[in-house]
Amino acid sequence: MRIYFATGNPHKVKEAELILKDLEGIEIEAVDIPYPEIQGTLEEVSEFGVKYLYRKIKKPVFVEDSGFFIEVLKGFPGTYSRYVQETIGNRGILKLMEDFKGEERRAYFKSVVGYCDEEGVRLFKGVVRGWVSYEIRSKGYGFAYDSIFIPEGENRTFAEMTTEEKSRISHRRRALEAFKDYLKKKLSR
Ligand code: IMP
Repeated sequence: MRIYFATGNPHKVKEAELILKDLEGIEIEAVDIPYPEIQGTLEEVSEFGVKYLYRKIKKPVFVEDSGFFIEVLKGFPGTYSRYVQETIGNRGILKLMEDFKGEERRAYFKSVVGYCDEEGVRLFKGVVRGWVSYEIRSKGYGFAYDSIFIPEGENRTFAEMTTEEKSRISHRRRALEAFKDYLKKKLSR
């Protein structure tokens, strides 16, 4: 069975391939088909997007929508993550966080995978909690907010970890694992 992953983000493709590669009986193919991203929660964005895509290609398809949420900023940038990254970027975020120390720097990444086939839509969620670092730290891995996010239980930012290391604990890993479990059960029905 072939399942399409609609995304234009090569980082997401690499991470999803790592996580889903051992799924027997299922082939994942990345396709860059644009779909409307409505303004709403990650769940609403994924559901709307994947339904649109299924109507268009009529093949099993999934999307992944994610965001970076800073608790003291009431979840900002959240569903505006992409726009905020492209405008004020990590320097801008660190500036907004200047007066916050320790536990006040709590943040999380959240991912929602939306899958649609002839049976309808299913959503799978994953969260990774941690902190906003005090400075930008990167070894050249990762993308976007990875260089300012330190996951719980770590001293390094996501951008100081290899993709393999990040993908063991990431929000995307958790959402994709739930999706993988669902696909395994579906295949054995
Ligand atoms: P979207 O799911 O492609 O709409 O992504 C939203 C935005 O969230 C991305 O453009 C990134 O700025 C941010 N983001 C999502 N996942 C990650 C991640 O794993 N690392 C760093 N930034 C992320």
